[in-house]
Amino acid sequence: MTKTVAFDVAEGVAWVRFNRPEKRNCMNPTLNREMMVLLDELEFRDDVGVLVLGGEGTAWTAGMDLKEYFRETEALGLGAMRQADRECFGWWRRLRWYQKPTIAMVNGWCFGGGYGPLFSCDLAFAAEEAQFGLSEINWGILPGGGTTKIATELMSFRRAMYHALLGESIDGRTAAEWGLVNEALPLERLRPRVAEVASKLLEKNPVTLKATKDAIRRVGEMTYDNAEDFLVRAQEAANSFDDQGRREGIRQFIDDKSYKPGLGAYARPGSVR
Ligand code: COA
Repeated sequence: MTKTVAFDVAEGVAWVRFNRPEKRNCMNPTLNREMMVLLDELEFRDDVGVLVLGGEGTAWTAGMDLKEYFRETEALGLGAMRQADRECFGWWRRLRWYQKPTIAMVNGWCFGGGYGPLFSCDLAFAAEEAQFGLSEINWGILPGGGTTKIATELMSFRRAMYHALLGESIDGRTAAEWGLVNEALPLERLRPRVAEVASKLLEKNPVTLKATKDAIRRVGEMTYDNAEDFLVRAQEAANSFDDQGRREGIRQFIDDKSYKPGLGAYARPGSVR
C-alpha cells in the first residue's frame, strides 16, 4: 500500500484506487510514480486477471495537480517538466497496453488529464452522478498531454470541439451517450456492475483477451489490408502462447456439445478464479 494509491485484490480482480480524496485525487508527481510501481507489481500476478481503476471519495480524478504537477514543476525548469510528463505518460501508456484487461470505474469527478487514464482503460463505467470535463480552457491551457487526441478518438468532431472549447462538464449519462464510457449507472450500482463485467472477463482465455484488446487499439490507424495482415499474424502469435485454448473451445462445442460459443465462453481449466 502506498500513500497516493490504494488497492486490494479479491477473486481475481485488482481494485486499484486513486487515493488523494482530500485533493479530489488529482495527479501529482508522487501519485504518478507510485501508480507505475503498483501497476508493475500487479501486472503479472497469477491472482490478478482484471484490473479496475477507481477513486477514493467523491472524485475519480480531478486531472493533473495544478500546484504540484504544473506550478511547482515548472518552477524547477524544463528538465523537471519533461520528467513529470514522462512519469504520467508512462503509466498511462503502461495501462493502455496492460497484460490484463482494465476497467475504469468512474465514481465522481473526471477532468482534464483524467482523460489519459480513462482512455488507457479498455472499458469504462461511470456513475450517472459523475462529472466529466475538459476544463483546461477554463484555466488557460489547451487540453494537452493527449487529452485532445483522446477527445477526438472517443467523440464525434462536433462533440469534441464543443467539449474542449466550452469547458462545460457533462454527467455520466451524457458521457455514455457521447462515447466516453460504456455505460452509466446510479452510483450504488456502479461497483456491482463492474464486478459483474470483471467476472465475465475472468471466464475468457487470458491470452485471447490480451491479443484482442491490443488488436482493437492497433487497427484503428491501419488500412484495411494492413489490419487484415496484422490480425492474421497477431492470431498466430497468440497461438504460440496458447495453442490449446482454441482447440479446447472447438472441442467442447463440436464434440462435447457442452456450451455454445455464441452464448458464452468454454470452460477453461486453471481459470484465475
Ligand atoms: N489540482 C490541484 N488541486 C486540486 C485539483 C487539481 N486539479 N482539484 C482539486 N484540488 C484541490 C483543491 O485545491 C482543494 O485543496 P484545498 O483543500 O487545499 O483547498 C481540494 O483539492 C478540494 O477541492 P475543492 O475544489 O474544494 O473540491 P470540490 O469538491 O468543491 O470541487 C472540483 C471539485 C473537481 C470541481 C474542483 O476541485 C476543480 O475544479 N478542480 C480542478 C479540476 C480541473 O480543472 N482539472 C484539470 C486539470 S488538467
